[in-house]
Amino acid sequence: MACRICSGRLQQFADFGSQPVSDAFVAPCDREGDGQGDTAGEYFFRLAVGICESCSMAQLLEEVPRERMFHEDYPYLSSGSAVMRAHFGSLARRLLATELAGPDPFVVELGCNDGTMLETVASAGVRHLGVEPSGGVARLAAARGVRVREDFFEAGTAEAILNEHGPADVIYAANTLCHIPYLDSVMSGVDTLLRPDGVFVFEDPYLGDIVERTSFDQIYDEHFYFFRAGSVRLMARRHGFDLVGVERLPVHGGEVRYTLARRGARPVSPAVDALVAAEEAAGLGDPETLRAFAARVAANRDRLVGLLTGLRDRGATVYGYGATAKSATVLNYCGIGPDLVRFVSDTTPAKQGRLTPGSHIPVRGPEAFADPYPDYALLFAWNHAEEIMAKETAFREAGGTWILYVPDVHLV
Ligand code: SAM
Ligand code: TMP
Ligand code: ZN
Repeated sequence: MACRICSGRLQQFADFGSQPVSDAFVAPCDREGDGQGDTAGEYFFRLAVGICESCSMAQLLEEVPRERMFHEDYPYLSSGSAVMRAHFGSLARRLLATELAGPDPFVVELGCNDGTMLETVASAGVRHLGVEPSGGVARLAAARGVRVREDFFEAGTAEAILNEHGPADVIYAANTLCHIPYLDSVMSGVDTLLRPDGVFVFEDPYLGDIVERTSFDQIYDEHFYFFRAGSVRLMARRHGFDLVGVERLPVHGGEVRYTLARRGARPVSPAVDALVAAEEAAGLGDPETLRAFAARVAANRDRLVGLLTGLRDRGATVYGYGATAKSATVLNYCGIGPDLVRFVSDTTPAKQGRLTPGSHIPVRGPEAFADPYPDYALLFAWNHAEEIMAKETAFREAGGTWILYVPDVHLV
């Protein structure tokens, strides 16, 4: 397997074994009356991650075909967190006040999902287009008044959008660019569609935070790349772009928002050099640093499994909280099934009544969480901990304890 950016040699640093598609929640099959679900249709792949010896981009070693992940029934909803709704609202207002303040501006969002960001742009009457291949969520965006093209963004899509709408002032993508192995095609599409002085802004989980927090569950099928400023800058240069801005974001366990502009078109913020220098100092491009991360991951797995096994053996009840895509890696890598975690509570309608992929733990609505409260709750949606703990104060008042595994296994 060669680097998807530069064809360089990849050095593997972590292997999570055979894993299912992280958002492929299984419909329970009653045929045998065992409630165990029909495993016949599940797709597994080898989840391993490596770093390119030439351009230092961290990436998966095996690619899941995109149609297996992003389709009509893709269940993830951007609107599922109040913090994320506020985050996207403020980003949209910032873009409207800056990059989109000129005459008849046009913004394109890749992976607009249910329209949580573009809704604010649409309400302001500004020309926009969401590009979203997953039909179900694309229709939710349309119902919010967002204009959507149901499609994968790539070179050909960009050409078609340019012909229909003209050039874009801003192309934006949140938690989407790192999902796209064919970045070459996407960058050539950005080159086609973006105005000469336009910006390409994207935000994704940050390799620096993943390594610092040992948040290994950020590694799953959809997260193909693990960006950092140094590797993004090299990738941008290959396509005639400068990395002109970086901004660290607290959401989703630590992200960076990157701003790209055509070479020489915009001044480069000093924050870019500063972040690249901090990454060098932290050894983020060094396979040794990443192998040390993998060793911490294995130790955390052993502690988590030990804790859950002990709790089961002494008759304590444990529920999961948040049937995240991230949890697929935790559950399948640790071998956690319904004997250790009775069910997972989640607000997403399309996940409820189904079983977690590979591990087959039932997913129920949030009302089940309090009926009655468990002794322990394993917080898979740890990136939303503040929001969740604020609304679930009654759980701890009832004597419940949270289990977290990032940055290490601990009880709250
Ligand atoms: N931007 C939203 C957010 O941050 O909450 C949604 C993120 S979701 C994890 C990733 C989205 O990217 C999915 O809705 C998926 O269908 C979409 N996607 C995947 N490949 C894409 C592509 N090539 N072009 C545009 N969207 C894509
Ligand atoms: P995410 O970490 O990828 O954003 O996924 C969060 C998952 O957790 C998603 O399935 C929605 C669910 N969730 C809840 O069940 N309750 C909550 O309060 C929040 C914020 C999320
Ligand atoms: Zn490379």
